[in-house]
Amino acid sequence: MQPYLATLKEARYITGDVKVLSVEINDPVAREAFKYAPGQFAFVSAFGVGESAVTFVSVPHRPGPLEFAIRRVGTVSAALHELDVGATLGVRGPYGNRFPLEDYRGKDILIIGGGIGMAPLRPVINYLLDHHDQYGNLTIINGARSPQDLAFAEEFETWAKAPRTRLELTVDRGDDVWKGRVALVPAVVEELKPSPANCVTITCGPPIMIRFVLQSLKKLGFADSQIVTTLEAKMKCGIGKCARCNVGEKYVCQDGPVFTFDQIATFLEGF
Ligand code: FES
Repeated sequence: MQPYLATLKEARYITGDVKVLSVEINDPVAREAFKYAPGQFAFVSAFGVGESAVTFVSVPHRPGPLEFAIRRVGTVSAALHELDVGATLGVRGPYGNRFPLEDYRGKDILIIGGGIGMAPLRPVINYLLDHHDQYGNLTIINGARSPQDLAFAEEFETWAKAPRTRLELTVDRGDDVWKGRVALVPAVVEELKPSPANCVTITCGPPIMIRFVLQSLKKLGFADSQIVTTLEAKMKCGIGKCARCNVGEKYVCQDGPVFTFDQIATFLEGF
């Protein structure tokens, strides 16, 4: 439960209200021993203010600092946004399960992200691109409210040019500069008509988007077991002790945050 002391190496905005913090654990032995996987999360703390559960956006197999995308929504995230490069912060983790990417080898992968929901999907995308010979076709649908809210724009060119990869960007509202698609994410799913045959879908975004994406995928013949998501929940301990993060009978911190939709069907009845 003790956080590692860490240093903020870099901070950059990737949308108007989302900052990526690049963080290095101070102790070289702990830094070397710290292993995580796409889908897992950590608690990042601003000392004297509090801590937040945040998914990793860094790519575990690529060397470099830990990265966390933090949206400014409350006191802890505001304090983390205000930190200067060189500041000390805390990192506790990693926690939770991961995307079982090795189980998806040989399959087509459909990634559907909305807004900051792209955060846990970014390491998945980059893992798949770095191991593209082990997977089928990769389709990425990335949607946001506005062009400025599209997360990880600096990587779009790389993603779009990768072998057997299709990147579809869409926004709810365009502007004078935007030449791309203006449509809701579920409409794009229905327009592209991905085949459910030998395909896994990984989706993350606002609940309303997930709800309608789910309906669209089901219309296309996807089964709940082919659709994977990662849930957000209020968390305190991260280790299954405080009962703050339950979804039905499951604890998001321990059983998740990664679930297939057939695993959380009960929860979805009220979704
Ligand atoms: S955060 Fe405490 S049980 Fe999940």
